[in-house]
Amino acid sequence: MQISSNYSKFARFLTLGMRLIFHKKELRSSLSSHEDAPGMLGLVPTMGALHEGHLSLVRQALSENSRVVVSIFVNPTQFNNPEDLKKYPKTLEADLSLLESVSNEIIVFAPATSELYSEDISSKNYFFNGLDKVMEGAFREGHFNGVATIVEMLLDLVRPNRAYFGEKDFQQLQIVKNLANELSFNVKIVGCPIVREPHGLAMSSRNQQLSNPMRQRAGIIYETLLTAKQMFGTKSATKIAAYVTGVFAKETDLELEYFQIADVETLTPVKTKQNNIKYRGFIAVYAEGIRLIDNIAMN
Ligand code: PAJ
Repeated sequence: MQISSNYSKFARFLTLGMRLIFHKKELRSSLSSHEDAPGMLGLVPTMGALHEGHLSLVRQALSENSRVVVSIFVNPTQFNNPEDLKKYPKTLEADLSLLESVSNEIIVFAPATSELYSEDISSKNYFFNGLDKVMEGAFREGHFNGVATIVEMLLDLVRPNRAYFGEKDFQQLQIVKNLANELSFNVKIVGCPIVREPHGLAMSSRNQQLSNPMRQRAGIIYETLLTAKQMFGTKSATKIAAYVTGVFAKETDLELEYFQIADVETLTPVKTKQNNIKYRGFIAVYAEGIRLIDNIAMN
């Protein structure tokens, strides 16, 4: 790995082909200095604390592009809760080792906050056609403006042909598609399937903040989604929601924030099921003070 700044901590990566970049200018010049087949640049935006879920996006990006940039940046403007931002794990060295285990050809962009934001660390305001008014948007004030602010910056900087986002954050995926379209970025936003832990919990950087027993018990979130999906063929959305509420009412240390079945395109809550519409069930649950989200295709 070539090191852009004198960070001795990362010296052990020096022998590798991976490139670690901390500055925008250097990223731009590195991207423009390569002669690649046109249309073959992929971007995987992350906030680090990488796990198999992130790596699945990286692998897909590597299989579809000749060059892949993975960004690692804990974006302050998308955190509505300052405590959550403070607690968010920062594990750059471990992240580099994981990426290296996948490929040593990756370009890692890990800027400091001051590199992307000026003194004023704030979001721009976007219009998402109502996609931000429900679920995560309703419960996390300003979250999607923060996500869009950083995603717009990254798309603008990297100018990728494809950018990879997980279905784990399905609402984010739809909002990013909307953003790329509204801002006329020439990029394909690629959605990737959810990767899960052995007990079914959707992988998340936040899972490492859970105790081991809770990490296993939280598998009930996915189990409940699977049952909800089964019920969807015969039961109304109201009955399914009542079932989910009932499951978590019995779980004293898991607190349901919302469960919602929504149209995958508009994210509006289902009223009467229609055959030509695809629906997903979305859930947010607190466990040991950690907010966990998940979702599943219902039909
Ligand atoms: P982060 O939570 O680090 O996730 C980075 C990407 O990995 C997102 O697209 C997310 O959906 C995907 N991902 C996370 N866990 C996954 C899992 N278990 N299976 C599949 N994909 C998974 O999402 C963000 O960061 C930020 O909001 C970001 C887009 C980087 C903007 O700051």
